[in-house]
Amino acid sequence: MTHVYVVGFGMGPHQLTYEGAKALAAADYVLAARKSDDDGLLEVRRRICTEHGLELVEVADPERDRDDPADYPGAVKAWHAARVDAYGKELAARGGTAAFLVWGDPSLYDSTLRVLDRLGERMDLTWEVIPGISAPQVLAARHRIVLHEVGRPVHITTARRLPEAIASGQRNIVVMLGSERNLEGLRELRDWRIWWGANLGAAGERLVAGRVGDVLPALCSAREAAREADGWVMEACLLRAPGRKDAS
Ligand SMILES: C[S@@+](CC[C@H](N)C(=O)[O-])C[C@H]1O[C@@H](n2cnc3c(N)ncnc32)[C@H](O)[C@@H]1O
Repeated sequence: MTHVYVVGFGMGPHQLTYEGAKALAAADYVLAARKSDDDGLLEVRRRICTEHGLELVEVADPERDRDDPADYPGAVKAWHAARVDAYGKELAARGGTAAFLVWGDPSLYDSTLRVLDRLGERMDLTWEVIPGISAPQVLAARHRIVLHEVGRPVHITTARRLPEAIASGQRNIVVMLGSERNLEGLRELRDWRIWWGANLGAAGERLVAGRVGDVLPALCSAREAAREADGWVMEACLLRAPGRKDAS
């Protein structure tokens, strides 16, 4: 029987929870994807392994077809299937207690739990999830805001699905998985309020808040500054339609 801890480690090693550290102490090794020869996110996981005296087992991440946005779900499905095979081989060969180190929390935009669901169908495997601090939580903390108005909902979506969310009437939206390409879309939301953060928890952390039309140039510069500081950029934001209350 192989056991797996899926450990959310927040926005970096400094945000690993006490419960996460206890799970790592009980693990024999960590499995992690290597996405490129120069994989900065793998290096973060390596630091955690070094700090906790754990072997890091690198698994080459299968190629993902990013050239055909029309078949995004198909490309992701094929990529997940290849990941299942790659992790399955390693877990079957090593057994024992493994850990996966998940950026933020495993419940948000992360495929580890889907991979384990699939693996559980084909091998003798148990797993448990240790929650981590997610990007929206750190964003809210840095801006000292509540993500929704009193008793109102917050919608969490991806930058690619933001237009769809607005068209369906969402007016208080956390946006993740943004890229430079998505900044253009913000120009149409001039009167919305934004609370934005890049590289939260990292040395290059940048925060911008205000009316979109007023702060967009500052946001673009902050984005570049974050990339320069850390060599990568990840961003999240809360967008609120005009006429709604301030975030508090
Ligand atoms: C693949 S998802 C992983 C999210 C993660 N599971 C969580 O709980 O936040 C990656 C997205 O999370 C957000 N994100 C992750 N780390 C971030 C950071 N340090 N600063 C800002 N946003 C971050 C960005 O929207 C990024 O595109």
